[in-house]
Order: sequence, then structure tokens, then C-alpha cells
Amino acid sequence: MAKGIILYQSKYGATKKYALWLQESTGFDLLETKKADVNALADYDTIVLGGGVYASGIAGLSFLKKSYAALKDKKLVTFCVGASPYDEAAFKQAYAYNFQGEIAGLPCFYLRGAWDTQSLSFTDKALCKLLFKAIAKKDPATYEPWEKALMEAYEQKCDWTDRGSLATILEFINN
Ligand SMILES: Cc1cc2nc3c(=O)[nH]c(=O)nc-3n(C[C@H](O)[C@H](O)[C@H](O)COP(=O)(O)O)c2cc1C
Repeated sequence: MAKGIILYQSKYGATKKYALWLQESTGFDLLETKKADVNALADYDTIVLGGGVYASGIAGLSFLKKSYAALKDKKLVTFCVGASPYDEAAFKQAYAYNFQGEIAGLPCFYLRGAWDTQSLSFTDKALCKLLFKAIAKKDPATYEPWEKALMEAYEQKCDWTDRGSLATILEFINN
């Protein structure tokens, strides 16, 4: 059986929840990306890396970029967790932004996370308030999917995490 590990980086818990569900389903090891050491990954056949999406960037992806030369012959799978509902065009754009250079072409699955304005750190709260104010000035008909999601979720507590949405990534990992 293939030996695998799930690396995750999560600020507010949704990515961690998905990583734990994936661990349960695969039996893979689990580790926070910031604690990962590329030399300790040598024995693994499959590496799954997941991160929350913050201002369009995927948390922890820099580890994969940095370590790509040592990991390129393994099965590499990524997933990202955002508040926006899935939108093909928006995802393609986000993919092109995050997956540049050597990591371009790696599989990435999108999963929907959670949102709770109250739990945000001081800096994130301030950042999101600025974003909210800027978006509020726009015509709602011109909102990008993430802008629409932010306007709807702002000041609310939402949880879109869904174990069933892991089916496609699990199929990919197991084949
Ligand atoms: C500062 C900040 C920026 C965010 N930017 C985005 C974004 O660009 N796109 C998106 O879909 N979600 C965005 N989100 C929502 C998060 O991706 C969502 O809350 C997700 O669940 C985060 O993963 P985590 O719970 O593992 O931290 C943002 C959240 C914060 C706090």
C-alpha cells in the first residue's frame, strides 16, 4: 500500500477539518505544513498538501514550491479551502496565480470552508472590513464570486465544510 502524508495549513480550522477527514479515509500521516521537513518526506509515495485561501493565495504552497526538486517524483496532490462557492473561471484564475513555475500543472482540488467574522484575528478583521467597504461601493451585478460570498457572509457565521466534497480528491489519491 502507498505510504502517504497530508500536510495542511489552516488559520481558522476548515482546512484542518478536511485534512483530518482525509486522514481518516486514507490512513495517511498528518502534519502541519509549517512543521514539515523535506528530508523527512523521503519515504512517502504520496504527498497531499492543503491550505486555506487568504487574499487569493494558498497557505503553505510555498513549501511545495521550495521543496519541489526533492518531491517531484512522488504523487503530489493539493487542495485549497476558500469561502467562495466553486466557480470554474475564478478557480482557473486562482490556479494560474498560485501554480506558477515548476508546480504548474499539479492537481488542485477546491473545497469550501467556513467564515466567522467574530473569530478573525485583529489584522484579518481590519483587512476584511476594508475589503467589505471597497466592494460595497461596487454595483452588485459586477461582483466576482468571492466578492459576492464576502458580502453575503460578512458579519455572519457560515460553515460550508462537507465531507462528501472530498470524494473526487479521494478517488484521485486512490488511483
Ligand atoms: C484575510 C482573509 C482573506 C480571505 N481571502 C479569501 C479569498 O481570496 N477567497 C476565498 O474564497 N476565501 C477567502 N477567505 C476565506 C477563507 O478562505 C475561509 O475562511 C477558509 O475557511 C479559510 O481556511 P481555514 O478555516 O483553514 O483557515 C479569506 C479569509 C480571510 C480571513
